[in-house]
Amino acid sequence: MSACDNMERREFLAGTAWMGAVALAAGRAAAAGRAAAGSPTMAGFAAPPMERIRLAFIGIGERGTAAVRRVSKIPGCDIAALCDLRKEAVDKNLKWLEKNAGGRASTRAAAGAGFRPPKTYFGNSECWKGACDAPDVDVVYVAVPAYLHARIALYAMNAGKHVLVEVPAANTIDDCWNIVETSERTRRHCMMLENCCYGEDELLAWNLCHQGVLGSLSHAEGAYIHNLTERHLANSFRNRNHPKKSSLHGNSYPTHPLGPICLYLDINRGDRMNTVVSVSSGSFTWKDYIAETFKPEDWQSKLEIDRGDINTSIIKTARGRTIMLQMDFTTPRPYSRINLVQGSRGCFWGYGWPARLAVAKKPGGEIGKEWMPQKEYDEYAAKYRHPLWKSVGEIAKKVGGHGGMDFIMDLRWAYCLQNGLPLDMDVYDLASWSSIVECSRRSDLAGGAPVELPDFTRGAWKTAEPRAIGDVDLAKMGFDLKVPVKKDDAQLDA
Ligand SMILES: NC(=O)c1ccc[n+]([C@@H]2O[C@H](COP(=O)([O-])OP(=O)(O)OC[C@H]3O[C@@H](n4cnc5c(N)ncnc54)[C@H](O)[C@@H]3O)[C@@H](O)[C@H]2O)c1
Repeated sequence: MSACDNMERREFLAGTAWMGAVALAAGRAAAAGRAAAGSPTMAGFAAPPMERIRLAFIGIGERGTAAVRRVSKIPGCDIAALCDLRKEAVDKNLKWLEKNAGGRASTRAAAGAGFRPPKTYFGNSECWKGACDAPDVDVVYVAVPAYLHARIALYAMNAGKHVLVEVPAANTIDDCWNIVETSERTRRHCMMLENCCYGEDELLAWNLCHQGVLGSLSHAEGAYIHNLTERHLANSFRNRNHPKKSSLHGNSYPTHPLGPICLYLDINRGDRMNTVVSVSSGSFTWKDYIAETFKPEDWQSKLEIDRGDINTSIIKTARGRTIMLQMDFTTPRPYSRINLVQGSRGCFWGYGWPARLAVAKKPGGEIGKEWMPQKEYDEYAAKYRHPLWKSVGEIAKKVGGHGGMDFIMDLRWAYCLQNGLPLDMDVYDLASWSSIVECSRRSDLAGGAPVELPDFTRGAWKTAEPRAIGDVDLAKMGFDLKVPVKKDDAQLDA
């Protein structure tokens, strides 16, 4: 199941009640921020080094199962607990771990670790509390449907656990603030698992931006374009209650394109997102699809559709940069995240093949009508390839997860925790990127009026240290580099 399936389902179920809640939240949430923090900032926070990281996985459907398999291959990561509402999901993961001796069998056997079965929690909607409370758990990895993310993250931090949570981490401004304040008070990491920040093209773009190749950055564009119309309107398990209404406003899934862009523009580290305007097109594709596909008596034909095909949002930053974000789960367009960043010297535009680059000889210099020839592009791509992709790219591609970026993300947080380093993305990133869900929705419902975005750093973005996304040292992590990583069934792209 994809992330957007979850949101679709939530919107189906919630209908207009959710819109009312948002309107209320809009009134409550002071856009400029809550009162000053009572606790020190989490910017630059590093927990003491953890030799072994004992993890509880909460929500082991498609995404969580893929994460269990990837993380089981990282030495020093112990899968201490598995939790899911559905017993069959727990059993399936337990069986896989047993068969694979906990993942990277050779490394664990060499370390004399053998296989220790994780504790299991399942069967009721609050079973995750047991996993969060377990004394032999350090980190909780949350991959349940998005409406539960904030609740579990808050509970886990209060139980003394660090949290890694799927996207988007929160759907309301109130929950964004609650997560920030709880992380500051408990001194626990709360990192959103924004895997797209670790894509090969995205980290190449990050390097081009930070090594000055593109000059002074002025604008970026990103999108989540994923045609899911047939899936969303299928007679499937997920639509078993025959929803009566489908409501979608603003950008409910902004972080895949926005996360990398915020890294390029140093958002929360020298700049911040100030305002968003958001508008949605009308609904055309679903109406046409339903008319051609279903009988008048089918639930799809009776569906009240309150959603546009394409949402476009524009964010303005404090330093005057602009970010264009699109979300389109609907139209028949090939998948894309766009991933464009423009500076005074050039432009990178790259999601997958072919990525493109244009670099002028001086700021504003003439570049002609063509992108850089492939040979020249390849030279830039090799020169500015991110160290993470240089050192672990090949292994990551074999382990998999969206072409390897998911494994690189997991390696990075594990390496940072093992070595007492700050994580690449902190709780302020989590909150500011997730805040687009509610703020774009409010703007869209108000006909595209500008909505102020909260400053979750409370002014600290002006002086925060630049972000350093460094390499990992596989040998130091305990990888037995003599044992080749096989392409195996960890290769799940969920
Ligand atoms: N980063 C990415 O690329 C990416 C991709 C897909 C999904 N996601 C995100 O991952 C999350 C999970 O998505 P998915 O596609 O795996 O969904 P899924 O439906 O396949 O899995 C969710 C799991 O959570 C379990 N669950 C539901 N309520 C629970 C509860 N109260 N307690 C314990 N378990 C519960 C379900 O039984 C299910 O197994 C979503 O938030 C989604 O947005 C991210």
